[in-house]
Amino acid sequence: MRHWEAIFLAQEPINVGLLGLGTVGSGVVKLLEQNGTAIATKIGRPLRVARVLVRDTAKPRAVSIAPELLTTDPQQILEDPAIPVIAEVMGGVEPAREYLLTALARGKSVVTANKDLLALHGQELLETARAHGADFFFEASVGGGIPIIHPLKEFLAANRIEQVLGIVNGTTNYILSKMTQEGREFAEALAEAQALGYAESDPRADIEGDDAARKLAILASIAFNTRVTYPEVYVEGITRISSRDILYAGELGYVVKLLAIAREEGGEIEARVHPALVPRQHPLAAVSDVYNAIFVRGDAVGEAMFYGRGAGQMPTASAVVGDLMAVARNLVHGATGQVACTCFRSLPVRPMGRVECQYYLRLTVRDRPGVLASIAGVFGNQGVSLASVIQKRSFDGWAELVLITHRVREASLQDALKIIGGLSVVRAIDNVIRVEEGI
Ligand code: NAP
Ligand code: HSE
Repeated sequence: MRHWEAIFLAQEPINVGLLGLGTVGSGVVKLLEQNGTAIATKIGRPLRVARVLVRDTAKPRAVSIAPELLTTDPQQILEDPAIPVIAEVMGGVEPAREYLLTALARGKSVVTANKDLLALHGQELLETARAHGADFFFEASVGGGIPIIHPLKEFLAANRIEQVLGIVNGTTNYILSKMTQEGREFAEALAEAQALGYAESDPRADIEGDDAARKLAILASIAFNTRVTYPEVYVEGITRISSRDILYAGELGYVVKLLAIAREEGGEIEARVHPALVPRQHPLAAVSDVYNAIFVRGDAVGEAMFYGRGAGQMPTASAVVGDLMAVARNLVHGATGQVACTCFRSLPVRPMGRVECQYYLRLTVRDRPGVLASIAGVFGNQGVSLASVIQKRSFDGWAELVLITHRVREASLQDALKIIGGLSVVRAIDNVIRVEEGI
């Protein structure tokens, strides 16, 4: 150890109260242990985990931690004046919201990875932080280890952001990658993502698209300086994506990805999460496994892409500890409470029916003359123009059709599909997936 490192390590530690010691919490403890000397040197004082809130103190832990630090009583952290910083990695909306509001009201700074909470109550938490001169940082809530929140709030703040778009859920990207590259079954790939610590405690939040929608609400709020909450984001997950869709998409030159898309256009915000066919040559098509990538388009910077591990213990711990260090530096220099809520506008979110897209449609229909003409007629009457129609296979008097539309309003497509679904020659509308060509 160098001389100055010993000096910084010998300084009075900054006590951190950790709420949660699961996948991410254990990573935070590990990282503070592993890089503690460098962290102390960079801040000027060491960071010490002073107390840890868990549900069950008897549970075996993945990290070595003094048993007397564990507690099931939140007040032992929230009421302790010797703990100026809280790292919340327990997840869920309540009681996390209540604990963090209490901590902020007592002037404690807070770091959180909790997108469920932020996507609903971000404004309340940020305003409470501002009112009490505390920091409230949440880099780990979007993109795992990828720095995206601080860059949007600070380093890209000079831009008018036009679009934020990307892959923001590691679990679903892992599943789709395994299905595409290795022909794996959905359930098998999901079980692997869970075992690797990528999935939420309830993985439905990942596969139904809600986790990505929460992250998009956070990103859109920051990017467009307006409050977008999770219920305002249109969301579809990946549970209806079959190996057949992945195969046909591949034959057409596309890869299936779960995309999160937010744009400002005509005084409105478009905010949607859904599976999409992405052209194989687009950089997002090459983003595989647990990796996430977020494209930001600003009027000054042009296109910037942020890429890295979007979930997992140590990447997420990297973001949490980075935020803890930012808070600690501010404490050392008496500068907490400087970066507050940036939502100074109030823009409406565009209803999905008015959003324009291209679509991939897979239908099972009667295999006989005139059927295609009747389907094409309905699309024509509803103003839906077809770019291509391919008959993929015939079986037992049925034909499987894959159609790609030109760009059309969502409402017109849905109206057409309602009529087509009722035709006696149509057995099923097997899938409808948006095609994102011009991203
Ligand atoms: P986890 O493995 O389920 O861990 C949750 C921890 O919080 C556990 O230690 C649990 O205690 C404790 N806990 C939960 N509810 C509690 C309560 N009411 N009272 C006291 N303790 C409670 O979750 P995780 O994967 O680490 O995720 C934590 C947070 O990070 C979530 O907000 C998640 O969305 C976010 N996040 C996760 C990842 C990832 O890759 N996993 C990435 C980015 C963000 P016990 O251990 O005693 O049960
Ligand atoms: N479950 C989330 C994911 C964790 O798979 O992306 C990171 O937020």
